[in-house]
Amino acid sequence: MKDLKNRKCGSIRKKEIDTNVELSGWIHRRRDHGGVIFFDLRDESGLVQVVYNPEQKGTFILAEGCRNEFVISVKGKVRARPEGTVNPDLDTGEIEVVGSSLEILNPSLPIPFQLDEYSSVGEETRLKYRFLDLRRKEMQANIRLRSKTSKCIRDYFEAKEFIEIETPLLTKATPEGARDYLVPSRTHPGLFFSLPQSPQLFKQTLMASGFQKYYQFARCFRDEDLRADRQPEFTQIDLECSFVTSENIRDLVTDMLCVVFLEVLSVKLGKFEILSFSESISKYGTDKPDLRNPLKLEEVGEMFTNTEFKVFCEPANSKGSRIACLRVPGGEVLTRKQIDEYTDFVSSLGAEGLAYIRVEDPTLGKEGLQSPILKFLEEDLINQLLKKLKAQKGDIIFFGAGPEKIVNDSLSALRDKLGKDLNLLIKEWAPCWIIDFPMFELNASGELTPLHHPFTAPRCSKKEMKDEPLACFTDAYDVVLNGIELGGGSVRIHDHEMLSSVLEVLGITAKEGEEKFGFLLSALQHGCPPHAGIAIGFDRLIMLMTSSESIRDVIAFPKTQTASCLMTDAPGEVSAEQLNELNIKINKED
Ligand code: AMO
Ligand code: AMP
Repeated sequence: MKDLKNRKCGSIRKKEIDTNVELSGWIHRRRDHGGVIFFDLRDESGLVQVVYNPEQKGTFILAEGCRNEFVISVKGKVRARPEGTVNPDLDTGEIEVVGSSLEILNPSLPIPFQLDEYSSVGEETRLKYRFLDLRRKEMQANIRLRSKTSKCIRDYFEAKEFIEIETPLLTKATPEGARDYLVPSRTHPGLFFSLPQSPQLFKQTLMASGFQKYYQFARCFRDEDLRADRQPEFTQIDLECSFVTSENIRDLVTDMLCVVFLEVLSVKLGKFEILSFSESISKYGTDKPDLRNPLKLEEVGEMFTNTEFKVFCEPANSKGSRIACLRVPGGEVLTRKQIDEYTDFVSSLGAEGLAYIRVEDPTLGKEGLQSPILKFLEEDLINQLLKKLKAQKGDIIFFGAGPEKIVNDSLSALRDKLGKDLNLLIKEWAPCWIIDFPMFELNASGELTPLHHPFTAPRCSKKEMKDEPLACFTDAYDVVLNGIELGGGSVRIHDHEMLSSVLEVLGITAKEGEEKFGFLLSALQHGCPPHAGIAIGFDRLIMLMTSSESIRDVIAFPKTQTASCLMTDAPGEVSAEQLNELNIKINKED
């Protein structure tokens, strides 16, 4: 194919003055300056200014008819911009191209939003006209960085002799905790495929199949409540290895992430802290702590067991409750109004209130403090508290008291909010590993559910697990970056008896287990090696690497919060004929 242009718009510099160039691209912006027409011509490489003068009659008339986002081809000569018109914000800002010819390769209808003014249009418009949104410099950069990162990761695993294996999309349900996307089978009336929530069952089966190091960029599908870091269809960097320990997997992923950040962003990620699940909950109220934020929760429950102050005394003496504080250095700058807003914020997360103490001068004891709760607290207790918290002049201390979950959820969210509002973050990147997870937790209905998935290896005997499931811990690990869960994995159960016991604890009968993943149970009984693995959320990784607010900004064609695609209008209705073929009747209320 003939290359339409001989230069990239964004690459032309001063040294090319007086040379002839041929360029193709989009009219980013067209300006008519009383008889002279300027185009900012854009291609993948950037912008260059093209000028058309009225002396060149035919070409000028053509230029007059051009509008933003027309695709054109231009021939012209490079010249220095006249004095006073140099644009220091543009790489090509010292020059311009005087157009001698112009060909309109394709016109454009008036565009629904100017690319430079995208923030003033709603995200809906951006998603509907995604092809325009993707022309924006920021989106182009995100998608390019995504491609570069995926190459870097592939190179990394290939060099380590991992092999890439694709696993099916039309398959059976994978228990990862979300709802399945179902696909009806035409050839088996009434039966459905599930799109995989992850390749978990297949990658474990691959270990039984003798592939010792597997990886895959795997598409996963989960029908769940969507948030800024979740999509119904997303990509995992999925991997699994045989004959390895959890440390081997963590070291591998730590190294891979360090290499990727260095190669793609020239960033040294630094040390990955390792925290146990319980330590993380106790210090940060969450198992996804943002370690850029220096604030920590401090447990103070035992100090309040005998206080008269009911708000603190009750949780201090109840099992399953905690009292924690957050000492915020420099928090004295917070106004009463801001504190009220923080109180509303924690209330929205279930907290009953947000007690606080302002520390004006800690050496003066109670006299040096200011707080609505001082009148309820004994002087001795206050002094002990100031000492324990190492309170300093200018601090504000916030308290959360009540059921553990509410205190943890509300204070961890408050910690994040204060970190941002008061500009407390001390570094740009703070990766960590969270390890030693409990095997089970109780869901909202009080039923036992696996914290990760049922294939995670417990670190206890079958009897211990059955006797006290909530006391059972696992060799699972999550990698967290800047407060976002990037990935999770574990050492797996490779012993069929152990998996049967886990299913029993979860109330899954042998028959159900057989129906759901009989092939894996069978593989475990036919010489499956010990194995471990992990999956990293690729979209989340790119979201973090590009400092994007939403995962939608790093996916070319994402879905909305209600899991639809505004550009293609999916999901859509299908014809009666198709439904008939699939033996499906729609039960639709008009
Ligand atoms: P998990 O369910 O923790 O583990 O998923 C691994 C990682 O995938 C990403 N992720 C998502 N990203 C975008 N949108 C979503 N809806 C979404 N859900 C998950 C997250 C998460 O950390 N099979 C196990 C892994 C294993 O045990 O090896 C699994 O899927 O970054
Ligand atoms: P009250 O006696 O309910 O007015 O509460 C006194 C102070 O304690 C107020 O500042 C409340 O915001 C705060 N408070 C009440 N309940 C809690 C709680 N569960 N945790 C932390 N602070 C609370």
